[in-house]
Amino acid sequence: MRRPMVAGNWKMHGTRASVAELTEGLRNLALPSGVEVAVFPPALFINQVIDGLADKGIIVGAQNSAVQPEQGALTGEVAPEQLVEAGCKLVLIGHSERRQIIGETDQVLNRKFAAAQAKGLKPVLCIGETLEEREAGKTLEVVGRQLSSIIEAFGVKAFANAVIAYEPVWAIGTGLTATPQQAQDVHAAIRGQLAAEDAEVAAKVQLLYGGSVKAANAAELFGMPDIDGGLIGGASLNADEFGAICRAAGN
Ligand code: PGA
Repeated sequence: MRRPMVAGNWKMHGTRASVAELTEGLRNLALPSGVEVAVFPPALFINQVIDGLADKGIIVGAQNSAVQPEQGALTGEVAPEQLVEAGCKLVLIGHSERRQIIGETDQVLNRKFAAAQAKGLKPVLCIGETLEEREAGKTLEVVGRQLSSIIEAFGVKAFANAVIAYEPVWAIGTGLTATPQQAQDVHAAIRGQLAAEDAEVAAKVQLLYGGSVKAANAAELFGMPDIDGGLIGGASLNADEFGAICRAAGN
């Protein structure tokens, strides 16, 4: 059985004060015991959040990490080694905002993925198609290619120690959510692609859906057989809303 995971991606939001308030709100939540709950604060606030959530059992992750595992001369980056030392367990790799706005390519993301795993930081690989690609009927081709990039470089077993988040770009921050069936279809294809190489890895990997998930639509999405939880942007900035989404994954 796969454990559900609900992860909050705070993106580039927050001040010391708002992060303290959100962390306090998370501390006070009643969280379901069977669900892995994680948050990804901006790097600047990772230490503050880890201190604030001590003993709460919420996993803290980073939104990005460097292409090399160890600290060194790489201005502006944070090494997986440093994130692990701070207490991070997860890292987002390949969020569409980084692919599209910053221009991160599959080659760069492969290096980040491997660097993270080399230090025991579990990658959450984000994949998804744009609206144009969906309308052209290319969804499975695009998602399949993003997944293949990792499989070809490191073998399918790399996903024994990773999470995958399917996030249709057109659903991120837009209020447009994929229907549960649209999301399920892509999740099933992702799992099928992995299963063609290794059935056990495919059966065990957690596949999260992301894109305008909120308390009102979470239960329906998480009820689909291949959706193992969610990666939550906007709605994760409100502790009560996020708590309700975590509870939806526990039911
Ligand atoms: P959203 O973002 O929930 O605000 O759509 C999801 C994400 O980008 O991870």
